[in-house]
Amino acid sequence: MKSTLIRKKFFDFFAKHNHTSVPSSSLIPAQDPTLLFTNAGMNQFKDVFLGKEQRTYKRAVSIQKCMRAGGKHNDLENVGFTKRHLTFFEMMGNFSFGDYFKREAIRFAWDFLTKEIGLDVSKLHATVYLTDDESYDIWNKEIGIPTERIHKLGAEYNFWQMGDMGPCGPCSEIHIDRGPEFGCAQCDPSCDCDRFLEIWNLVFMQFDRQSDGTDLPLKQTGVDTGMGLERLCSIVQNVDSVFQTDVFA
Ligand code: SER
Repeated sequence: MKSTLIRKKFFDFFAKHNHTSVPSSSLIPAQDPTLLFTNAGMNQFKDVFLGKEQRTYKRAVSIQKCMRAGGKHNDLENVGFTKRHLTFFEMMGNFSFGDYFKREAIRFAWDFLTKEIGLDVSKLHATVYLTDDESYDIWNKEIGIPTERIHKLGAEYNFWQMGDMGPCGPCSEIHIDRGPEFGCAQCDPSCDCDRFLEIWNLVFMQFDRQSDGTDLPLKQTGVDTGMGLERLCSIVQNVDSVFQTDVFA
C-alpha cells in the first residue's frame, strides 16, 4: 500500500465519522511566540483547545507537515541513529474539541489500524499514563488487548505538552512489536531500540500549563492524536526503516 492510499484512507475514515478535513498549516507557526517550528498537528488548534477560539466544527482531521529539529520535541539527536526518527515528517491526526474523549479516540485508532490498514492485532501494544486506569480498562475490556500488552508508563512517555506552556494532558500510545531482529531480545515500548515502534499517540487534552508549571483544567476536554505517516508506511510496506518507504523513494 502506497503512502497516497494511506493518506486517502485516513481522510476517508475520519470523514465517515463526521470529522472536517483541515489542510496542513505552515511550518512556521503564525503568532505563537512559544514555538519555533510547527511540531505537531495540534499547533494550529491550540487556541481552540484553550477555548479562546471557536470553529464551526467540533471534530477535525489533518495531515500536518512537522519539523522536530529545534525547540521542544526535538528529535535531531536521534536522527541517523534510529530507523524511525526524522527531522521533517507528516503527522496524521484526528481532533475533538469538547466532543468525544478517551473511549471514542481509542476505538477510532484501533479500528483504523486493524480494519482499514489490516495490521496484525497480536503485534500491537498500548501504553497508558501511570494513573490513567480509565484508558487501561478501555484497552483491556472494550478493545480486548490482553494485560501483558498494555504498559503503564510515567510522564516522560505518556504525558504530552506542546511546549513549556499551553494545552497538555495524559496520552496513550499504540506501538507495534517488530520483533527481536529490530532490537532487544526482551524489552517493552519504553526501550529506545527499534523493536517497538510507536505508531500513534492519542493525547487526552485536559490542562493548560502555566509559565510557573501549574496545570489549570481546561474548560472542556479534547482529543489530539498524531500518527507518523512515514512510520506507518514502513510497517505496511514491510521495509526496514522510514528512509526506505515510498515517501522517500
Ligand atoms: N500532539 C501529540 C504528538 O505530537 C499527538 O498529536 O505526539
